[in-house]
Amino acid sequence: MTVSKEINLNAYKENLIKIGQVVSPAKVMAVVKADAYGHGLVPVARAAVEAGIDFLGVLDIETGLRLRESGITEKCFAWLHSPQSDFGKAVLAGIELSASSIEELESIAKAPGRAQVHLKLDTGLSRNGCRIENWHALVSRALELKALGEIDVVAIWTHLSGTSESDDLKAIQIFNQGHEMASSLGFTGYRHAASSPAAFNLPESRFDLVRIGVSAFGTSPVNGRLASELSLEIPMTVTAEVLSDDVISIGFLHGYFSSLSGKARVEIDGRLYKVLKVGPLASKIETGAFRPGDLVKVFGPEGLLAPTAEELCNLVGTVTDELFTGLKANSVTYTA
Ligand SMILES: Cc1ncc(COP(=O)(O)O)c(C=O)c1O
Repeated sequence: MTVSKEINLNAYKENLIKIGQVVSPAKVMAVVKADAYGHGLVPVARAAVEAGIDFLGVLDIETGLRLRESGITEKCFAWLHSPQSDFGKAVLAGIELSASSIEELESIAKAPGRAQVHLKLDTGLSRNGCRIENWHALVSRALELKALGEIDVVAIWTHLSGTSESDDLKAIQIFNQGHEMASSLGFTGYRHAASSPAAFNLPESRFDLVRIGVSAFGTSPVNGRLASELSLEIPMTVTAEVLSDDVISIGFLHGYFSSLSGKARVEIDGRLYKVLKVGPLASKIETGAFRPGDLVKVFGPEGLLAPTAEELCNLVGTVTDELFTGLKANSVTYTA
């Protein structure tokens, strides 16, 4: 063991249950993109299902197919496509698909079977959605394809920037406009817009479903409030070991940021030690009363002396997604 990750799946499940209570009557889609934010795609998706979640969000079709290969049959939504995306395989596997343009819609409709389509409206983020001026044409064509039996138009959706409440409120206004237009054309499906921050902060963004990623992994979606204040637990603990007098077995090649040099602290045997210099595969820390082989707590849940992932990320101005997804451990263990 040099760097170990321990994932408390029960904490993840409890978080999803808690979030479900916060957003009810909206439902929760558990987003498991990027290897479930570095926590492990299949174990985390299974845990979500055990927590009663019946809808998984995966970003790309390939990830959805991996879930299917692992025997997970719950609803699954993929929203980022490339020219190589295999819509045929997706439809066959029952993976629901986002469409942002008529071209994308036509390609999806050509796939054998009846695709379940979510039409994406751009509400200001300018990230891969249909602009409001093209929305009428997209919805009209989608409803024609539905009438022809080629697809089902199950939902309309958008992604909010989460940069400020006023930006998100403006985006919701555009989304409501898009919904009115779609309804007047005969759309009868459901709506989703919020990811973690809006789901917690803006009740009007919840609509029928919220897409939850990082908050279920214990990152607070509310500025100035700790995860624990929102009753969220942190599932990931990362540990390393003491290698010699002042050297521990984690470095930037494991995804422990070099910019943490001189800023981070680690916990060894109930005491905190400053990290002086993060090297490639090991880091130098203050000397102290510890010995080679001793366990080093690098980050983990609140309540340890060691920092949380969020506290570490705040030291260097980044977000926990970057730490979680970049962290390479020699061993990963799951506790239920
Ligand atoms: C479209 C979409 N929905 C939901 C999420 C989950 O966001 P969060 O991690 O803030 O909950 C993401 C994450 O990138 C996303 O791209």
